[in-house]
Amino acid sequence: MKTKRFNLAIVIVIAVLFSFCTVTKNNKANTSLQKAYQGKFLIGTALNANQIEEKEPHAAKLIPRQFNAATPENIMKSEIIHPAWDRYDFDLADKLIAYGKKYDIKINAHNLIWHSQLPVYVKAIKSADSLRTFFENHITTVASRYDGKVYSWDVVNEALNEDGTLRNSIFLQKLGPDYIVEAFRLAQKAAPNTQLYYNDYNIEEPKKRDGAIALIKKIQAAGVRIDGVGIQGHWRADRIPLKNIEESILEFSKLGIKVMFTELDLSVLPNPWDSNTADVSAKAENIAALNPYPNGLPDSVQAVFTKGYTDLFKLFLKHQDAISRVTFWGVNDTQSWLNDWPVNGRTNYPLLFDRNFNPKEAYYQIIKMTKQKQ
Ligand code: XIL
Repeated sequence: MKTKRFNLAIVIVIAVLFSFCTVTKNNKANTSLQKAYQGKFLIGTALNANQIEEKEPHAAKLIPRQFNAATPENIMKSEIIHPAWDRYDFDLADKLIAYGKKYDIKINAHNLIWHSQLPVYVKAIKSADSLRTFFENHITTVASRYDGKVYSWDVVNEALNEDGTLRNSIFLQKLGPDYIVEAFRLAQKAAPNTQLYYNDYNIEEPKKRDGAIALIKKIQAAGVRIDGVGIQGHWRADRIPLKNIEESILEFSKLGIKVMFTELDLSVLPNPWDSNTADVSAKAENIAALNPYPNGLPDSVQAVFTKGYTDLFKLFLKHQDAISRVTFWGVNDTQSWLNDWPVNGRTNYPLLFDRNFNPKEAYYQIIKMTKQKQ
């Protein structure tokens, strides 16, 4: 009997030790990214609904330690926050504000005007008058509700084509080319205490960048406030356009606005197309050749990934005076939209924390470089 009890005790001790080790392992980043970058720029993450509600224990612990800025991945987009013509759903956005307050995390609200993830009734609008009414009501209602509660807004998202011309969205078609200036004017009125940004992908590329610069100058010339520009940063780990990124930091900051990297992730999977788009409507079929690492990333690819992040952060540190925030598009690899875009059901590895919330080598490298002389 005694030996049985003794054995049981040993089993319990081993189990407790084992679970303790797993927990320690899962939280083994005792270092903090946001602390390492304090005084340089904010370090942000995109948050999904579960994370805002603190339903994932590992994420709940990791997020406030690593990040001091957050962008809602989906819950403030118009299809969620404004689901019917005369109905708003502020529930999750209000929770996000409370979450930010609790952990001292600055919220970048995303976004007010975007052609994607629109509510169905907006897509069906025929008359310019009705669209204008939606446009004015939406911006005014949502931006004023969160004025002073969020730090910033992505006022307009992805308004440009790759050649720098204006995207032929429902807003351009029905409201004309001044709709972007108007969006900022309305946001400025509704949210005088909130930073206002233009956000897009590929605006580091020369032609699209010129379009963005023209857009920003037009807003400024109209006497309307724009405080910053967000370069999304959905890149391939082996093809980061470092030269174009550096030129963009310099050129955008010459306009007297802040530069941010707002949706950073580095894909390690093959691209179904030659072009590098982040258009959410782009879709390709899932074939095995497009999903080469379902069971783990080979060391050689991991090394390319680490180098990608290291090169990028070297550049960010060099231009830290111009950069106010770098936000990753998700907390860990499980969450990343790149598992399902542009191909459904792949296994991608684009973020600094792996599927078990363990920090990768890239994480340690970009912390280490803050301690070295630039
Ligand atoms: C993505 C989200 O991550 C996905 O969950 C959603 O299904 C589609 O949108 N550019 C943006 C982001 O501005 O809002 C997009 O987020 C990614 C591309």
